[in-house]
Amino acid sequence: MGKIDREKRLKERAALEAVKMIRDGAIVGLGTGSTAALAIAELGRRVREDGLEIIGIPTSYQAAMIARANGIVTRTLDDVSKIDIAVDGADEVDSEKNLIKGGGGAHTREKVVDGLADQFVVVVDDSKLVERLGEKFPVPVEVLPFAIGPVMKKLRGMGGNPALRMGVKKDGPVISDQGNMLIDVRFPEIEDPAALERNLNDIPGVVENGLFVGLAHVILIGTMDQRGGAIIRRID
Ligand code: A5P
Repeated sequence: MGKIDREKRLKERAALEAVKMIRDGAIVGLGTGSTAALAIAELGRRVREDGLEIIGIPTSYQAAMIARANGIVTRTLDDVSKIDIAVDGADEVDSEKNLIKGGGGAHTREKVVDGLADQFVVVVDDSKLVERLGEKFPVPVEVLPFAIGPVMKKLRGMGGNPALRMGVKKDGPVISDQGNMLIDVRFPEIEDPAALERNLNDIPGVVENGLFVGLAHVILIGTMDQRGGAIIRRID
């Protein structure tokens, strides 16, 4: 099995496991990215085939579009008083259940929705596990467009190596769902993720960064047993 097929299978295994945790009547935060998309599709299947009644709160245009295409009723945060459970992917996960998110540029809304959930369930394949955050993935930072210059300077001053995220099949910078720009910052070492999360958000012009420290309740990791079967490892 190729690397891409393996990852897809493991993402699917984690997504399906998470959807089993969703109860009738729940208000559900709908995450963004390829793994969350698999969870939304499975949730839609349960709505259609099992008559499950839920309300989805999307974290992005992507999540909203996939939800609608799958027959899931969506609402905004103004319409609900709580979120029972949120299911979302991640770019990196450490053993303390801290995350880097925002590879798809959706971390700002994700942090709002996932952070409000009584239960925030993270769905990943085993390639996302790291000993220390920042090992493989830069920290995404959403920034007001007019503040890009000074924010880049501050990030360099903090020891980071920032790069403005550029579009693919779109000339120029990526624009977030909120109309902002994204900077991906590589840090030589992230010793204290909680402090870095706070310090990044203290820079004037920064809207939100992709470090999610102390937010996740459950991590569902799709992995493989010795016989090549897809299994779940769960961190509570
Ligand atoms: C979206 O901006 C991200 O936070 C995603 O949740 C994260 O990038 C994981 O995406 P995949 O499930 O596609 O790996």
